[in-house]
Amino acid sequence: MITNTELEYKGDLYPSKIVSFKQDVDSVYFYTENNVILKLTVLRDSLIRFRYTTKGYFSNDFSYAIDEGHSHGYNHLEITEEENYYQITTNKIICKIHKIDLRSFIYDLKGNVLLEDELGFHWEESYEFGGNIVKMSKASREGECFYGLGDKATQMNLKGKRVENFATDQYAFQKEQEPLYKVVPFYLGLHNKQAYGIFFDNTFRTFFDFCHERRNVTSFWSDGGEMNYYFFYGPKMQDVVTSYTDLTGKPELPPLWALGYHQCKWSYYPESNVKEVTAKFRELQIPCDAIYLDIDYMDGFRCFTWNKDYFPDPKRMVSELAQDGFKTIVIIDPGIKIDKEYWVYKEALEKDYFCKRADGPYMKGKVWPGECNFPDYTNPEVREWWAGLFKELISDIGVKGVWNDMNEPAVMEVPNKTFPNDVRHNYDGNPCSHRKAHNIYGTQMARATYHGVKRFAYPKRPFIITRSAYSGAQRYTSSWTGDNVASWEHLWIANIQVQRMSISGMGFTGSDIGGFAEQPSGELYARWIQLGVFHPFCRTHSSGDHGNQEPWAFDEEVIDITRKFVNLRYQLLPYLYTMFWQYIEEGTPMLKPLVYFDQEDIQTYYRNDEFIFGNQILVCPILEPNSLGRRMYIPKGEWYNYWTNCMVKGGKEMWVDSKFDEIPVFVKAGAIIPKYPVQQYVGELEFDELMLDVYYKEGKEKSVVYEDAQDGYDYKKGRFSFLSFQLTGKEKEINIQLHKDGKYDTNYSNFKINFIGLPFEIKKIEIDNEEIIFDSNLFKENQYLIVPKNFNVLHIMG
Ligand code: NOJ
Repeated sequence: MITNTELEYKGDLYPSKIVSFKQDVDSVYFYTENNVILKLTVLRDSLIRFRYTTKGYFSNDFSYAIDEGHSHGYNHLEITEEENYYQITTNKIICKIHKIDLRSFIYDLKGNVLLEDELGFHWEESYEFGGNIVKMSKASREGECFYGLGDKATQMNLKGKRVENFATDQYAFQKEQEPLYKVVPFYLGLHNKQAYGIFFDNTFRTFFDFCHERRNVTSFWSDGGEMNYYFFYGPKMQDVVTSYTDLTGKPELPPLWALGYHQCKWSYYPESNVKEVTAKFRELQIPCDAIYLDIDYMDGFRCFTWNKDYFPDPKRMVSELAQDGFKTIVIIDPGIKIDKEYWVYKEALEKDYFCKRADGPYMKGKVWPGECNFPDYTNPEVREWWAGLFKELISDIGVKGVWNDMNEPAVMEVPNKTFPNDVRHNYDGNPCSHRKAHNIYGTQMARATYHGVKRFAYPKRPFIITRSAYSGAQRYTSSWTGDNVASWEHLWIANIQVQRMSISGMGFTGSDIGGFAEQPSGELYARWIQLGVFHPFCRTHSSGDHGNQEPWAFDEEVIDITRKFVNLRYQLLPYLYTMFWQYIEEGTPMLKPLVYFDQEDIQTYYRNDEFIFGNQILVCPILEPNSLGRRMYIPKGEWYNYWTNCMVKGGKEMWVDSKFDEIPVFVKAGAIIPKYPVQQYVGELEFDELMLDVYYKEGKEKSVVYEDAQDGYDYKKGRFSFLSFQLTGKEKEINIQLHKDGKYDTNYSNFKINFIGLPFEIKKIEIDNEEIIFDSNLFKENQYLIVPKNFNVLHIMG
């Protein structure tokens, strides 16, 4: 065995041999001769936390990422001492800690290696700032793959890449550009079809290297703070992601309208321009639920004020928009203009709520309004004050959502684009410099905003969107991928980023459809909206200085394509809402990269473009101009082409034809896909039927539909409707068993069932074992059946 002293690098320090150990309930402490302590905590049988100190004691244990409500508790924990190592055994894994150098080795119960330290924990003293640069290196095995890490604009599989986590305002970023807006220091490893995960919960600037510097080594390190990481055992990627999401938290359900289509631009003003845009959506019958006001609605970019020349009566305007089904969403930035006449500035100054430099003066930086000070959102008192500021906007004016931008935090005209390192933060009673608080500043702003909007929107649900975020931000907010560009390459990036965010616990995400910077061609816009309607958050946004980006800025064909795809999104709302429910209930990512969908199939390990929307719809965008189709990988199983209803067998790459008004979309055989009628906005129509598209399969498939009042909190008291359909198809029959849960009675009375791929002619139908009168001619004409929603068993026979 090689010991770490043989591999020692210049300047790096290593733990020496273990001199004692102690168990305290779920934690085991290992003490080394040179004052290093490893605290290993078994949170669950498959979740272990590793926390190291080099000081001989631990500082206060505090994290913004960890959700207080996460599940805790293991079934088994045993510690034994062997000659060369200590062994910790849980119900799922074995962890060995080497006595000679504190390195850890993790195995499954059959003895297969899951993750081994290479050098393991080591560090360098930070002479400039104090504390350590903390480092960890793991041995990487042949064929190992890596996924996750939030918004990285690079291929799905991170093998061979080095990435940096430092929240940055990265205008018009490029493929492979680092760092970006968000910080999610969580990745999944996949080896021998077994998955594990690592969450390095350290808010300083962090780096991850996946066999980039050294071929067989994965490492991660940070400019400061503690080596503090969580190890998740799969073996399924699903287990890793759901337990990471359980640890860092899930959102509440958004109002259903937030899953509709949103229209944004920098900026719609004055009021007449906003109204023109919203009226045009209705005229062209392109559904839309939300309209955004960017910074120009404010008076000189002062947050919580209005430019009364452009918007003389915001309350009236917001309520008129609401009557037409539009929810108004306004932007709020962190920079507060230094202006003695401005009430927000005055209040914050009086209360001493702005961030300060190390030697005392307030931190000053330029953003849109000119010189600003910045609230310290890491102070709970400041967050409470900030939340209170939303009263007028939400309660009085009727704004329905808030958009937090520039919260990396961004500062203009300075080389590092952000606060200086010495700026002080409260960090919830753990005072520190900006080095430690930088990456969570945006999340704490969004958190304060969320609490404010929620308080004043009650009993309705809040909607928040943020640009910057750290792990755990998903508890409070949705997000978008920042300032992208109207290019084909960026369409590729958007597709990857949103999938990646999804498996990184932050699923409620979308990109600026069409691109923020520069002008998309009609074709690019069409291809982008075709993908965007399959993203959890769906908004067109543009910088506005290169022309317009509303659907009607393009030709008729593009308008029709936009309508067709936005209509499809509105039809699929019950399916999308069910995906969201599964995300908040189980932590299941709403979008699933193919490798996540089928990790047994090694063909999926390097796929980027195809993904599963929810559980049963396969989507693959068209990413090149002038395409008549594309090659794509269809995962194993049977899939129906959504447009042609032809069935294909997967497990292979194939060419799929795709006209300009289509992209490849496939539905899993056996799926029952719920659909609403097209509405111009959520709640526009009352309808008496839930459409169910039933895709025939010989065999079994389960489908679920979650519904509730679409807003409010009654669902938390059990007022939801959860339909669980079990389809069993045979050569000449289909049997659908329905199980219903929850106390919410949906407004419709019937299901309108549309059969796809039936290999037989229907001769007889039974509902709950009673034959019903059935007009086969009518069925042939309409191709659907209407049945009451309260059946238990529907039996269709040929
Ligand atoms: C930068 C944001 O990323 C963008 O979406 C917004 O339009 C501008 N700031 C102006 O507020």
